Amino acid sequence: MGDALTHALQLRDQRRPLDGAEKQAVADRIKQQLKQHDATLVAHYYTAPEIQALAEETGGCVSDSLEMARFGSESPASTLIVCGVRFMGETAKILSPDKQVLMPELEATCSLDLGCPAEKFANFCDQHPDRTVVVYANTNAAVKARADYVVTSSIAVDLVQHLHDQGKKVLWAPDRYLGSYVQKQTDADMVLWDSSCIVHEEFKSQRIREMQHLYPDAAVLVHPESPQSVIELADAVGSTSQLIQAARDLPHSQLIVATDQGIFYKMQQQVPHKELIIAPTAGQGATCCSCANCPWMAMNSLDALDALFGRMQHNQIEVDSEVARGAQRSLNRMLEFSARLRAGEI
Ligand code: 13P
Ligand code: SF4
Repeated sequence: MGDALTHALQLRDQRRPLDGAEKQAVADRIKQQLKQHDATLVAHYYTAPEIQALAEETGGCVSDSLEMARFGSESPASTLIVCGVRFMGETAKILSPDKQVLMPELEATCSLDLGCPAEKFANFCDQHPDRTVVVYANTNAAVKARADYVVTSSIAVDLVQHLHDQGKKVLWAPDRYLGSYVQKQTDADMVLWDSSCIVHEEFKSQRIREMQHLYPDAAVLVHPESPQSVIELADAVGSTSQLIQAARDLPHSQLIVATDQGIFYKMQQQVPHKELIIAPTAGQGATCCSCANCPWMAMNSLDALDALFGRMQHNQIEVDSEVARGAQRSLNRMLEFSARLRAGEI
C-alpha cells in the first residue's frame, strides 16, 4: 500500500486550488464534453464538492457505493464516468460491459482493496469450504469473482442476518471492523479477513468522547468501517446514505460525524440548519495521513476530470472477461437482495 498511498498524498498536497472563475470555466468545459460524449457522472459522496455539484447539475448521480452500482447499470448513457475509487469503476464496468467506463484517475484505489489480494484470498476461502463467502464491495474484481455475495455497508447486516437465519456460516472480507460490527449485530458464525480502511481507522474513541464533553447535545454518526470503540459511541451507524438520512431523522441540531468529510456537502444540503462537526482523527498535524479525507477519493479533482476528455483511451476501465463473469454473478446477487429488501420481501 505504501507507494499507492504516498502517490495519492503527494498529488493531494501538490494540487493548486482553482479560484472561483477558473472553477466555473472548467466546469462549463466539462459539461460540454459530457454532452458531446453521451457521458454521465457517477460520483461518490466523498468526492470534492465541485465534482458532486457537477454530477447533480448534469443529471448524474451522487450517492453511496450501492446506489452508484445501481445507477450505472440503469443509466441510458453510453459512457459512465465514475468519480470514486477503482473498485467502483470496476463494478460499473462489470454490471455494464457494453458501456464505456472511465475514471479521472485509474490509480485511485482503496486500502481495503489493496489489503485483500485475490490469490491470498482464494487460499483463505479454500481453508473454509463450508462457509458462504461474503465480500465487501471495496475489493477487486477477482475477489468478487470468488465470492457468493457482494455487499456494501448499507445491506451488510441484512444479508448476513438472512444467511444466519438460514443456518449458514459466513466467511467475511476484507474489513475487520465492519465484519465484527456485522457479527455483533447478527450473532452469525463468521470468520474475518484482517484489513481496514486507513481513513476510518483514524477516528479514536478517546478524542470523540472529548468532543462529546464540548458538545453535550450533539449526536454521533459513525460509518461502520470505524473501530468498534468508536461505533460504541454512535447514535447512528450506517453507510454514507444512511448517515445522511440519520442526520435528517435525528432531532439533534449538532452532529459529530465520523466519516470522510466529503459527505458534508450533501449532508449540509439536507440539514441546512444543523451544525456538522467532523469527528477528530488521531493525527492532527504532520502525522495525519488521511485527516478524514480519503486521499484516493481526492484524486478526482476538477482538473483531473477536465483532462480526462483529452485521454479517454487511456483511462478506460477494463476487466478480464472471465473474472467479470464471476464477479457479475455475486454483484447481481447484491442488487437482487437489495431490491427484495426494498420491496419488503425480506
Ligand atoms: P458507502 O457504501 O457507505 O458509500 O462506503 C463506501 C466507502 O468506501 C466508505 O469508505
Ligand atoms: Fe477505501 Fe477508506 Fe477510501 Fe473508502 S474511505 S475508499 S474504504 S480507503
